[in-house]
Amino acid sequence: MPSHDVVVVGSGLAGMRAAVEIAGHLDVAIVSKVHPARSHSGAAQGGMAAPINNNPLTKPGLLTRASGDEVNVDSVELHWYDICYGGDFLVDQDAAEAVAKRAAEIVYQYDHWGVAWSRNPDGTISQRRFGGHQAPRACYAADRTGHALLHCLWEQVMKRDSEIKIYSEFYVLDLIIRDGVCSGVVVYDLASGQLDVIQAKAVIFASGGYGRAWRITTNAFASTGDGVAMAFRNGLPLEDMEFVQFHPTGLWRQGILFSEGARGEGAHLVNGEGERFMERYAPEYMELAPRDIISRAEASEFHAGRGVNGQDYVYLDFRPIGRERVLERLPQLHQLAWNFAGIDILEEPLPIQPTAHYSMGGIPVNLNGEVIVDPEGTIIKGFYAAGECSCMSVHGANRLGVNSLLEATATGLLAGGSALEYAGSIAHSEAPSDATDATRERVDRIAHRGGEEKIGEIRDTLKDVMMEKCAVFREAQALQECLDAVKGLQSRFRDAPIQDKSKAFNTAFTEAIELDNMLSFAEAIVVGALARQESRGAHFRTDHPTRDDDEWMKHTLAYRDDDGVRLEYKPVTVTKFQPEERKY
Ligand code: FUM
Repeated sequence: MPSHDVVVVGSGLAGMRAAVEIAGHLDVAIVSKVHPARSHSGAAQGGMAAPINNNPLTKPGLLTRASGDEVNVDSVELHWYDICYGGDFLVDQDAAEAVAKRAAEIVYQYDHWGVAWSRNPDGTISQRRFGGHQAPRACYAADRTGHALLHCLWEQVMKRDSEIKIYSEFYVLDLIIRDGVCSGVVVYDLASGQLDVIQAKAVIFASGGYGRAWRITTNAFASTGDGVAMAFRNGLPLEDMEFVQFHPTGLWRQGILFSEGARGEGAHLVNGEGERFMERYAPEYMELAPRDIISRAEASEFHAGRGVNGQDYVYLDFRPIGRERVLERLPQLHQLAWNFAGIDILEEPLPIQPTAHYSMGGIPVNLNGEVIVDPEGTIIKGFYAAGECSCMSVHGANRLGVNSLLEATATGLLAGGSALEYAGSIAHSEAPSDATDATRERVDRIAHRGGEEKIGEIRDTLKDVMMEKCAVFREAQALQECLDAVKGLQSRFRDAPIQDKSKAFNTAFTEAIELDNMLSFAEAIVVGALARQESRGAHFRTDHPTRDDDEWMKHTLAYRDDDGVRLEYKPVTVTKFQPEERKY
């Protein structure tokens, strides 16, 4: 069986950054079900946040809105404050500070590694506004920032090809944990259909998010929450799963991302009556309010019959930006609109709607990226998580745009450094001889069972039900119906056979495993949402429309028990900023 000091699962920004941190010191491998250059980080468009002050504030920022202290330059503190405020005070403030503090060095490291950042006329890295940020803080490479960063990191990995072993198109099916110690993963080789163990002193999950559980999403087909589901199946908790971000500008009916960078450059949101409706919901910030607020504003417009043609879309109008600036700064959006909607955004507005985009919750980790298993912070030795699959609670109840590429890189770096230190300090770690038994049994059961149900139908129903009952607006009855539906689908899944029995690239089998994973964490999302009787950030309960700090300023930990999902809670870490009412 192959063996490495550290195995990183996932090859987006978090995974590759972790591997680069370890390479040259210890033997490290990356395992990914897609080729690394196809990881979903590459789909990010608008930028990466860092308070480097290259473009001036258009008006003074407020360090805290309550005290009204005006500041004229951007700073780590202002960025940190915006994250806490934007996250509706569910942010662990020590985590947000740790990430904000690293932002500038991360941007400049990418610069030195050759990222083609867009530039100001004086050659400095250009920065634009993004929602909820009080400063133009988004460093960007036109509207292909994720692509530029992913390929930069892939080059760094390739440069270290004798030090980083790549298992591309290997699907991790299980995590090996015994007695609180992690010793490797069980992998399925997509090309051969063979199961194997990869033994490791430390494992880092950087396996991405889970937007594919909704019908309308920006997420890649691969974003099925595999890492999150594996942790959950192994008895580990999932944190704050009820907080799922809907991006306000997904292409109508298709969900494809149209970057917030468009609004940062001056695009307007317009309803069916031709109004810039954000005036009603966030009069100061308008189109640059945070995503949760704009997505709710759009849904409210639809409900009030003010969607375009009375339907569930509004317009994103690029024309106020001007032709030259669109072509220079948003060329991909121009092309995407033409390819997927047949619309020339220089001439016509684009129909858009909220689209599932980002998971604030995930596998709970401490500031070292070590996975924790209880409210007291007990760790699993040798198990780390980073990026979207993890929850260090940097974003709390709502992530601000352009903080994800930053968080992915920063948490990858942190987890990589911690895993390096730990794996370097232990002599040996051996996976148990029966490590594949449970996976083999699961694979055989799924691959060889009979029944009348169809995997595709179950998956489609799950996406529809999550979209209808657990999306931008939520309430008790719909959530209960959603939970009943998810449980019904779990039971139907047990009667869904796989017709394709082949070994090589059996996508019917991998899709079944992905569905099994989605059905599992979907239950944690809905149970958490049903329990949380307040509205905070991306979790809005129409039957409990206000934030309730006395009862609910706490993180959810969801555990999978034999008879369903059990919830525990842990406190939010407040180090500096006291909770305030959130207004934009
Ligand atoms: O809108 C965007 O460009 C997405 C950025 C992000 O999610 O951070």
